[in-house]
Amino acid sequence: MSVWSDGYVSDINYTYGYYAELDPQRAVLPLLMAGLAVPPVRTACELGFGQGLSINVHGAAGPAGWWGTDFNPAHTSFAQELATQSGGQLHLVDQAFSEFCAREDLPGFDFIGLHGIWSWVSDDNRRILVDFIRRKLNVGGVLYISYNTLPGWSAAAPIRHVMAEHAHVMSAPGQGMVQRVKDSVHFTRELLKLSHSYQRQVPSILERVEQVSGQNPHYLAHEYFNRDWHPVYFSEMQDWLEPAKVSFACSANYLDDFAPCLLDEQQQAFLAAIPDAAFAQTAKDYLLNKQFRTDYWVKGARRISSVQAEKAWNALRFMLISRRDAVQPSIRRQREVNLVPEIYQPVLDLLADHEVHAVAQLAEGLAGSGITRAQLHEVLTILHATGDLVLVQDADSIAQARPRCEALNRHLLQLNRVNGDIRHLVSPVSGGAVACDRIVQLFVLAYTKGLREPAQWAGFAWEALQMQGQCLVHEGKTLETEADNLAELQRLADAFALHQLAIFRRLELLGD
Ligand SMILES: C[S@@+](CC[C@H](N)C(=O)[O-])C[C@H]1O[C@@H](n2cnc3c(N)ncnc32)[C@H](O)[C@@H]1O
Repeated sequence: MSVWSDGYVSDINYTYGYYAELDPQRAVLPLLMAGLAVPPVRTACELGFGQGLSINVHGAAGPAGWWGTDFNPAHTSFAQELATQSGGQLHLVDQAFSEFCAREDLPGFDFIGLHGIWSWVSDDNRRILVDFIRRKLNVGGVLYISYNTLPGWSAAAPIRHVMAEHAHVMSAPGQGMVQRVKDSVHFTRELLKLSHSYQRQVPSILERVEQVSGQNPHYLAHEYFNRDWHPVYFSEMQDWLEPAKVSFACSANYLDDFAPCLLDEQQQAFLAAIPDAAFAQTAKDYLLNKQFRTDYWVKGARRISSVQAEKAWNALRFMLISRRDAVQPSIRRQREVNLVPEIYQPVLDLLADHEVHAVAQLAEGLAGSGITRAQLHEVLTILHATGDLVLVQDADSIAQARPRCEALNRHLLQLNRVNGDIRHLVSPVSGGAVACDRIVQLFVLAYTKGLREPAQWAGFAWEALQMQGQCLVHEGKTLETEADNLAELQRLADAFALHQLAIFRRLELLGD
């Protein structure tokens, strides 16, 4: 750990994740479903952006200007490289929160996001962050914050403790962080196997250690090995944020608020009987044994009338990005619920052409079906939360984002030739990222080079893999021969051509 890192792991870099919750557009539907006004977002800030994929996606594909910091210079350097490539509206620095938050040259922000930060920093840093949000989040602005939650972490918190202690006491720094992580996971597994009384009290504990051992060591180092690690109850979080004058608005993922897929009727009735909305959130975390929360908070949340809500809905446009027949008829969280076919089938029928559809147009198309406006809004929100639908930006925002996204995608596709760490491409249409694995990115790169046949994409991908000495793994088995690899790549390329290519074109991921 370095002097500048304030107890935070800095000798191993973080993963290249993309988090859609950090997209201000993502807040629109959960806020509307909560009956709250949605602010326009012109300025946004991400604190502790890691490798900076999310902030770069949003600075390239969305309309807002973004400011952000991460004190790990290796992270910031990578993030700045992406920003230079895209020409996005990004101001990225490697300042510690204490330095960044004290700056006097920053604008007010309509959106501030922190993902994977709060639980892993000291109380001093938390006070700095809260004070920053108090001073810098504009009235009406949205805060996105995620954090490790109690009671969900209470049974497994000792795993984290012994792993961090093992790394601190037993391992030599010269071993490198990946080895230290592996050693402490191994030690913890062996220790807990012998702790019969622990297993009696927490029967799932060994399963939990197994799950941990399968995770990326770069992720584990940042999740488990910092000096600071403080999961909190929802009500404690509320106390922390109170001085920033923000109030809880909704979960960042609507499905975390959609009671039928979380709670049975008895549980729902129990929660409904709690008159205090904030205490009900704490109680809900107990019912779900919640371990991680991803929430939106608003400074000065304003309830809107049904007329205002309908106006806001009418301004929205959607596009179906899953195959019509691949949309699941049920949602599975804690419980499985079937979507009502009489409601969601007619909505999907209208969206099945993968064109852009305004909500008002969808409502018109449903006239006489008996489907109400509220039902339409709920289906759209659910399909958006499941990733089947995207919100489509206005034409001006798409036009401005187009060259930036093209440039960023070109760069990401080149990076992916040698390294499959980044599993997303950027869409000017949705203003966010779209999941896209290494092989599909190689097919897209082949396509952008003018190759139009699946067999050519398969050949191109095989060449790239060969240059890295890599082979495909199919159903857990490494494919050893060229013929087997090419056959599998051909199968994947055919599937891409059949199922994804047209949708990628509509999302403008292909650069043509
Ligand atoms: C768990 S990572 C999350 C990164 C990113 N938000 C994501 O979810 O991909 C936490 C990040 O916060 C940064 N960080 C931690 N403490 C910080 C501080 N005091 N000032 C600035 N950055 C900090 C770390 O360098 C690290 O990249």
